[in-house]
Amino acid sequence: MAFATRHFVRAASSDAATAAAKKLLIKHVTIIGGGLMGAGIAQVAAASGHTVVLVDQSDEILKKSTKGIEESLKRVTKKKFADKPEAGAEFIKKTLKNLTTSTDAASVVHSTDLVIEAIVENLEVKNELFKRLDKFAPEHTIFASNTSSLQITKMANATTRQDRFGGLHFFNPVPMMKLVEVIKTPMTSQKTFESLMDFSKAVGKSPVSCKDTPGFIVNRLLVPYMMEAVRLFERGDASKEDIDVAMKLGAGYPMGPFELLDYVGLDTSKYIIDGWHSLEPNNPLFAPSPLLNKLVEEKKLGKKTGEGFYKYK
Ligand code: NAI
Repeated sequence: MAFATRHFVRAASSDAATAAAKKLLIKHVTIIGGGLMGAGIAQVAAASGHTVVLVDQSDEILKKSTKGIEESLKRVTKKKFADKPEAGAEFIKKTLKNLTTSTDAASVVHSTDLVIEAIVENLEVKNELFKRLDKFAPEHTIFASNTSSLQITKMANATTRQDRFGGLHFFNPVPMMKLVEVIKTPMTSQKTFESLMDFSKAVGKSPVSCKDTPGFIVNRLLVPYMMEAVRLFERGDASKEDIDVAMKLGAGYPMGPFELLDYVGLDTSKYIIDGWHSLEPNNPLFAPSPLLNKLVEEKKLGKKTGEGFYKYK
């Protein structure tokens, strides 16, 4: 037994050493989608010394993304280099030098180590993009999706590089939030997984790993919790105000579930729960809510439209 244990430990550590020896050092990154998430990912990747190309559908959108990144960098720098404004200015200059933009993904992936997709949350559109880029990206390039609710495996299957495909789920706002969920499908190789873990650390985040399961870790716990709060309110068991107060003061959460739903957007929450419900129709945690559906139908989507569960001025 002792021998077996020793042998196992030796074998495991030599396996880890082999995988580590073969991992890809990610230097050049292409980010597709310059919206809320893609711009944030581009910022942290460029700030940590990676060469980044940010891709979106038009120069206008990219101009807006770059402006947003510049403003965000100024905020970060003000805090980070409070008493060294010159070092701060140098940091911004260096970061922006690492960042270029393009409207043609196929023409910029030829020398990239990692493609991170952060476009619209639609499986067909994402698959079409990955399928196309698979033809243009070099053999070694790893593909990753930042999806919150879609199956990574389905996207990997749209390509011929299933072993070099995983999930990199960042959180909003990216420059502030420390977590990245690194998603491993049954086909993701150990080398790919470790390269993605290393990349996440290199951009200053704390990665956790999860299998390709609906919602990964955070949303899998958070979305059913918010839906259960809506059901509690729908049944008339408690008011939404009291539920929010209860979770803030009783559980120590910074926001109540209805405040959080309004912040995330009711359409986004409905989209996620509907998707999971279609995957597992008998799972009561994924049951749709008539009240949530009604609010979305009335275009009361939360903070962004001025009204959701609460009204905003
Ligand atoms: P967004 O709507 O702010 O940005 C998406 C961007 O992708 C837009 O600028 C759009 O022009 C661009 N785009 C759409 N199709 C494209 C294509 N074929 N090629 C190039 N660019 C294209 O969306 P957001 O919020 O940044 O979300 C992006 C992804 O990140 C989604 O998959 C979402 O589920 C995921 N996500 C979102 C979070 C959030 O809090 N908003 C958190 C974590 C993940």
